[in-house]
Amino acid sequence: METDKITEQLKQIRDELLNLTNSPLYAYRKENGYFPVSGQGSHYAHIMFIGEAPGRNEAKTGRPFCGAAGKLLDQLLESVGIKREEVYITNIVKDRPPQNRDPLPEEIEIYAPFLDRQIHIIQPKVIATLGRFSMEYIMKKFGLTSELKPISQIHGKVFKSNPLLGQSITIIPLYHPAAAIYNQHLKETLLEDFKALNQFK
Ligand code: URA
Repeated sequence: METDKITEQLKQIRDELLNLTNSPLYAYRKENGYFPVSGQGSHYAHIMFIGEAPGRNEAKTGRPFCGAAGKLLDQLLESVGIKREEVYITNIVKDRPPQNRDPLPEEIEIYAPFLDRQIHIIQPKVIATLGRFSMEYIMKKFGLTSELKPISQIHGKVFKSNPLLGQSITIIPLYHPAAAIYNQHLKETLLEDFKALNQFK
């Protein structure tokens, strides 16, 4: 896709999210002066990270992973020599759920088509999911339902999308960095799992 077209299409997604009045999270966004968080990073990224949903810092600024979990994500990227601006970072749910609760199925349903479009536009070679919600959605989307297991069993593993779907994409499920903020063992696991990204830089 041409440069201008990619930027234009990603802007279109951002604008649609701004006006997503039928979202169950729209009223909460407005009451709090929050923004939707579309995504950030290189429009030509080889690697796309997909988290869960914006937290308070993200909803206040409209930027993904800019709070405590984002700081850890930055450290993890640095540990494998990847610059944040080289990758694309987004979430499955684009508005902040109240009290950072887990996203509801109907929230995933309304926001996932935006994620699908971002994947289609950017065409990453690798999708690294952060946490179980994006892991489940992405593995199912790319024909890997039979490989789905609890994240404790498949984190850090490298999966190839089902070739029957035509698109060749690598999927690496990772723990969510927020889970590792106060858990040194999980942080070490994440540092180890991030090494799987080395071959795709
Ligand atoms: N947690 C997420 O899943 N996404 C963000 O953008 C920030 C925290």
